[in-house]
Amino acid sequence: MPLSDVLVDEEIEDAVAQTLRSGWWSSGPRVAELEHEFARFSGARHALAVANGTAALHLALLASGCGAQDEVLVPSLNFVAAANTIVHTGATPVFCDICGGDDLNVSPEDLEAAIGPRTRAVVVMHYGGHPCRMDAILELAAEHELAVIEDAAHGPGARWGEQMCGTIGDVGCFSFFSNKNLPIGEGGMVVTDDDALAERARLLRSHGMTTLTWDRHRGHASSYEVVMAGFNYRLDELRATIALVQLGRLERQNAERARIVDLYRAALDGTNGLSMPFAPRTDVTSAHHLAVVLLPEGCERARFRGSLMERGIQTSVHYPPIHRFRAYREFATRRVLPRTEAVAERLVTLPLFPHMSSDQVWAVTDAVASATESVT
Ligand SMILES: Cc1ncc(COP(=O)(O)O)c(C=O)c1O
Repeated sequence: MPLSDVLVDEEIEDAVAQTLRSGWWSSGPRVAELEHEFARFSGARHALAVANGTAALHLALLASGCGAQDEVLVPSLNFVAAANTIVHTGATPVFCDICGGDDLNVSPEDLEAAIGPRTRAVVVMHYGGHPCRMDAILELAAEHELAVIEDAAHGPGARWGEQMCGTIGDVGCFSFFSNKNLPIGEGGMVVTDDDALAERARLLRSHGMTTLTWDRHRGHASSYEVVMAGFNYRLDELRATIALVQLGRLERQNAERARIVDLYRAALDGTNGLSMPFAPRTDVTSAHHLAVVLLPEGCERARFRGSLMERGIQTSVHYPPIHRFRAYREFATRRVLPRTEAVAERLVTLPLFPHMSSDQVWAVTDAVASATESVT
């Protein structure tokens, strides 16, 4: 059983075929429609479609003014994209700890402890689509004049109170990679209410050029100026077409994910020394991107995962902490991250996709039960 899975059906095939036949494949009307729909869905003033979630983070950091001499706070229990893009701006990543084994999001208290005179921004990540403690994070940011960048790669459709994750801080970043809640292959989105930030990100997305090929094709412009050294981080029409279909399904599919996680939780949380982080809450809505279990202390994770693999069940680890990677050890000497260290060897991600059947869930929970018994 795969960790994640995508469904291909006639609606997607027909939509893509229509775009193929249109003869316009690079950024154009479907991208514009997707941006419009995503802005409407998230409640943001601006939505900019980009090539992937990493590009979204890079643009968000640059458009927020991060660069050489700056420090940017970021959780270490995270995908490496945030740290890589911080480094690409010339800034220094400062790794921060999580709240604990029951809440794997970054700790606002540890963020506060990490703030120094050069701190410019914080990149928070809504782990598994579970919203961070944004009230405390916004308060800190206001007090210390920090930009708040939300890595909402796991969280399209997640809500903190009434507000969509990604729209709470200054700028939000989404990934539409194949294993994400809104899968299209490769793609992403930047959202913000800040007009100036949106304009900088828009220019940086396409070589710093003031007009797009699509504008010129429609006769809306005949030339262009280059006002900054940008990138090609554009999304294409074929992927935007898939994204439009997936966006229409997102809320329903997130609800299916929630149903499956409830089944996992009922079967696994508190069984054989296992726990499932992120107990259900009524004040936030998770996007349930991941089904993660925390193994009991002393449980050998490699053997546990091997036992599941023998039964044909794929697992993963979200994440090996970034500060332990060779490329990041030099940045990791200043701080200790005891709560991240305490869970780092014990997290395992189980299969989760919206069309997973209850029988498939039971197959996983049975395998988990026998694996924990045999390896503890
Ligand atoms: C938390 C997080 N941030 C950023 C990214 C980067 O997104 P992409 O793979 O679309 O570049 C990912 C993707 O795996 C992610 O999980």
